[in-house]
Amino acid sequence: MVAAGVLISGSGSNLQAIVDRIAAGRLDCTVRLVISNRPEAAGLARAAQAGLPSQVIDHRDFATRDAFDLALVAALRAAQVDLVVLAGFDRLITPTFVHAFPQRIMNIHPGLLPAFKGLHAQQQAFEYGVKIAGATVHFVDPELDHGPIIVQGAIPVAPDDTAATLQQRILGVEHEIYPLAIQLFAEGRLAIVGRRVLIQGPRPTLPPPIVHW
Ligand code: GRF
Repeated sequence: MVAAGVLISGSGSNLQAIVDRIAAGRLDCTVRLVISNRPEAAGLARAAQAGLPSQVIDHRDFATRDAFDLALVAALRAAQVDLVVLAGFDRLITPTFVHAFPQRIMNIHPGLLPAFKGLHAQQQAFEYGVKIAGATVHFVDPELDHGPIIVQGAIPVAPDDTAATLQQRILGVEHEIYPLAIQLFAEGRLAIVGRRVLIQGPRPTLPPPIVHW
């Protein structure tokens, strides 16, 4: 069982996927605290609906990124979380935060890193004309979208896809791979060796390659 703190900024659909997987008895995780940096985040209603403790820590109330991050760290430590889950969180976290939870902060990126780092990765991929898109769960280090990769999920880009339809289908991948990554962490199966995350124990058979044109 892993005690998680989930940080959100918006709709909270990844939070919802985690909550649903816990309710289905398929994720050994307890969400101890949901924090949003935006008081208007719809994800706060999802937290309330799920009966989860939540808190708004608004980055605009702090003079520096470090001060904001120290407030986040204090709240997460008070909630005694083992794992910090960034789920649609739209702030770049500082080394202060990363060093407070070494190798215990995860993020979901709506692109197949290292491709399309940064904002609007789905749009970047669509405009680049990729044939295969997807999402990445990775550990967070002080660089943007750079930490060791835990799980990736890939989908073909449909000929009639738009940036919006692709974004929605990538979101579906996110909702599959984030609970999986957290479960692997809860089972203690993730070993970080340099840039690689080695997953110990039984593994599914390798899926066939996705070939798409
Ligand atoms: C998603 O596209 C996710 O990839 C990105 O933030 C967006 C919203 O996520 N990190 P959520 O619905 O708030 O979980």
